[in-house]
Amino acid sequence: MNDRITLRRLDDMHCHFRIGSLLKEVLPFTAQYAGRGIAMPNTRPRAIITGNDIVWYRDEIMRALDEMPHRHRFEPLMTVEIRDSTIPQMIAEAHRVGAVAGKVYPLGVTTNSDEGLRDFDSEKISDTFRAMQDVGMLLLIHGELDRERTLVTKREEVFLPTLLKLAERFPNLKIVLEHVSTRVAVESVRQLGENVAATITAHHLCLTLNDVIGYGIQPHHGCMPMPKDFDDRDALIAAATSGDPKFFLGSDTAPHPREKKECAKGACGVYTAPVLPQVLAEVFEKAGCLDRLEDFTSRFGAEFYGLPLNDGTVSLIKSEWVVREQIGSVVPFRAGTKLQWQLA
Ligand code: DOR
Ligand code: ZN
Repeated sequence: MNDRITLRRLDDMHCHFRIGSLLKEVLPFTAQYAGRGIAMPNTRPRAIITGNDIVWYRDEIMRALDEMPHRHRFEPLMTVEIRDSTIPQMIAEAHRVGAVAGKVYPLGVTTNSDEGLRDFDSEKISDTFRAMQDVGMLLLIHGELDRERTLVTKREEVFLPTLLKLAERFPNLKIVLEHVSTRVAVESVRQLGENVAATITAHHLCLTLNDVIGYGIQPHHGCMPMPKDFDDRDALIAAATSGDPKFFLGSDTAPHPREKKECAKGACGVYTAPVLPQVLAEVFEKAGCLDRLEDFTSRFGAEFYGLPLNDGTVSLIKSEWVVREQIGSVVPFRAGTKLQWQLA
């Protein structure tokens, strides 16, 4: 029996590190097992929309890393938020200071998307996407649209025609459909050209909508996109464990203080950073594909981004443990439950 696995240090291609004290709370978990992490730009009160913001945010993250008792070799990969007001000059500036990607939040679909993109078709935003294509920055998309008479569970499907159009119009722009949550999105990504890939979260591999609202409302499972049906989850597990390089890890670890989750109009986001490799090992083992875990966590993302693979490894051992009910100010994914794998 396999009771130890060793993985190349991970690339978590979708992290919400936040700012201030929360940043210091959450960053050590990702830095423990990941060589790199994509730092999402939807921070508040200061969003990451200019070159100056990027430099400031990277400094904040580096300072938080310096303050950690155990030093880990960890590199934040910086992103810029793309709004209707983002012009090609801002892309050039973001690229100059080292951003690897731009992130689009369509208006109103998730946490801090109040200034999200309204119009994917404007000439102005096409110029911006073209500028990204020209400098080789990736376009990361929260693929949902909030339309009239469209249920929250249908928002991803409703976005897919927009993805198809973008992929066609910008064949050399690398596009990542973030946190895919439906079978139809998985199939679209498979069928599109090599310029399109998708990230998959650990929680979407575990949850269905039943786990959010089916047995009493569970705010700590509430996230965007919402976990969907069993068949959708089957498709995500199949994609993650298939060895198809179009699908790689982006955890969307999204911490919110407990009181911001356990309230009316609670915030969306699942905090998976403290349990991420452990939960993934469980999912891949159950699928009989533990041998494919490393490609998903540590190879396909780097290859799509055009980055060298990380140095160093992390090991997991099979040994049951119970996840803490609360870590700092946040309730982690799988709080109070048993996990089968732990970090060595
Ligand atoms: O559930 C989510 N939380 N989805 C997102 O897209 C954003 C994230 C957050 O920032 O909390
Ligand atoms: Zn996110």
